[in-house]
Amino acid sequence: MTAKSNLDKLQILNLKNDEALLGGGEKRIEAQHKKGKLTARERIELLLDEGTFEEIGKFVMHRSKDFGLDKEYYLGDGVVTGYGIIAGRLVYVFAQDFTVFGGSLSETYAEKICKIMDMAMKNGAPVIGLNDSGGARIQEGVNSLAGYADIFYRNTLASGVIPQISAIMGPCAGGAVYSPALTDFVIMVENTSYMFVTGPNVVKTVTHEDVSSEELGGAITHATKSGVTQFVSINEIECINDIKKLFSYIPSNCEEQPPFAQYATNGNEKRPELNKLMPENPNQPYDMREVVKQLVDEGSFFEVHKNFAENIVVGFARIGGRSIGIVGNQPAVMAGVLDINASIKGARFVRFCDCFNIPILVLEDVPGFLPGTDQEWKGIISHGAKLLYAFCEATVPRITVITRKAYGGAYCVMNSKHIGADINYAWTSAEIAVMGAAGAAEIIFKKEISEAEDSVAELKNKVDEYTDKFANPYMAANRGYIDEVINPTDTREKLLKAFKMLENKATNLPRKKHGNIPL
Ligand code: HXC
Repeated sequence: MTAKSNLDKLQILNLKNDEALLGGGEKRIEAQHKKGKLTARERIELLLDEGTFEEIGKFVMHRSKDFGLDKEYYLGDGVVTGYGIIAGRLVYVFAQDFTVFGGSLSETYAEKICKIMDMAMKNGAPVIGLNDSGGARIQEGVNSLAGYADIFYRNTLASGVIPQISAIMGPCAGGAVYSPALTDFVIMVENTSYMFVTGPNVVKTVTHEDVSSEELGGAITHATKSGVTQFVSINEIECINDIKKLFSYIPSNCEEQPPFAQYATNGNEKRPELNKLMPENPNQPYDMREVVKQLVDEGSFFEVHKNFAENIVVGFARIGGRSIGIVGNQPAVMAGVLDINASIKGARFVRFCDCFNIPILVLEDVPGFLPGTDQEWKGIISHGAKLLYAFCEATVPRITVITRKAYGGAYCVMNSKHIGADINYAWTSAEIAVMGAAGAAEIIFKKEISEAEDSVAELKNKVDEYTDKFANPYMAANRGYIDEVINPTDTREKLLKAFKMLENKATNLPRKKHGNIPL
């Protein structure tokens, strides 16, 4: 037998490369397409700048011998891993390949993911995971479980160091859900993805509930009911575009500043529309998104968690090309009251911004925390404290604009001066008080009102008295809790200057191992 020539050796390499590209084979690729899903490689191609993908571990194979696996091998073993470029910036990526053992996770598959996670940590670049998997490779038993745990461990160590984004583009069930849950953002595709800890069959056995996969853990369910996903995309293309858009606002690691974008200006930063936005009656709603639209660079608002806890609005935007995170009460939904879900949503977003050096703008119009047994018994005390804690510990530049109500504890929580905000503005329409005037008058003038000849007229007098004294921003401004009372028209101009002024802000928390946020 003669030694193989170099040409033969190259042919072997080419054959292996071709084999790897086919994953689980043409039939399974066709089945994947029939479900309206792309393959792992097609997804990576769409995600990364053309021709930039460098694969790592293409020829990795599993080491299992049980249950017939000694006769079934696929190069790559069900996950495509590597690195590439998005808009000129390095990212690491893994894409689970459903055509190979249903994308199920083996020991070697987990090793491939861990390898790129370790590289991402060393090189300070994000990890983007494209999930589409039947969960643990059942034939591998505990080796697969160990692989999951190795990934969870790295997800946690990487948290706050590099951004981690999870797209769910197919099944994601059992303990497998915990890797995406540990990452910064989850994006689900409508109709083709689902996430649950236990599926409909187990649910039926244990709780006797009849529920479909979609209802139990589809994209809409997690976007509206559980809040597990921050984004829903109507199809895979939109999902991939959403990942790229999200990435455009955030830095590659916690040591970097977010990317700057060009912005066009004609030099006039006044926004007179803002003066027409506030209803005459302070109990009338308006849409805080309209305020956001006026304040940020045109078309730059990218809302996060849009369909969950809609009484608070959070998202990324740019002001003068600078990335910022916005947290706004939403008077158009439940009068903008803070409840458990809104507190959790706001807190998580604030913490993300703070991890990755993204300045925060708070737009405040909040009547307080939501009263009632439902909220109290579910622990609004602890959950509300999450939002408070998140703001208190945030060291990024922080600016608040009080547009209207800033009542009670919610005044303190929503990025008040007292908990570390750098600049606090109030519009002339601001009302900064312990509570609304009607409620306040009824409590503090109870005796006078009940003893008055005309108690209705007396109540009105007392409400007017309280309104004159407190339903305005001036007492807070007199104390310096508000830095400036401003004409709404000037708000964008003020923010442009203030965020620039704060760009080199440096402040540190007291030395500690880590804080103990009320989880
Ligand atoms: C090995 C698997 C697999 C798995 C699917 N396959 N899941 N192989 N381990 N977990 C294989 C199938 O045998 C099949 O192989 C191919 O993938 C496609 O699967 P289908 O069932 O034909 O596809 P579909 O009808 O689309 O259904 C997809 C599915 C279903 C809903 C994901 O396959 C399914 O229910 N799988 C089992 C899910 C599961 O119980 N996983 C374990 C969860 S517990 P062929 O050769 O026919 O193409 C878990 C614990 C993790 O994950 C704990 C971490 C801490």
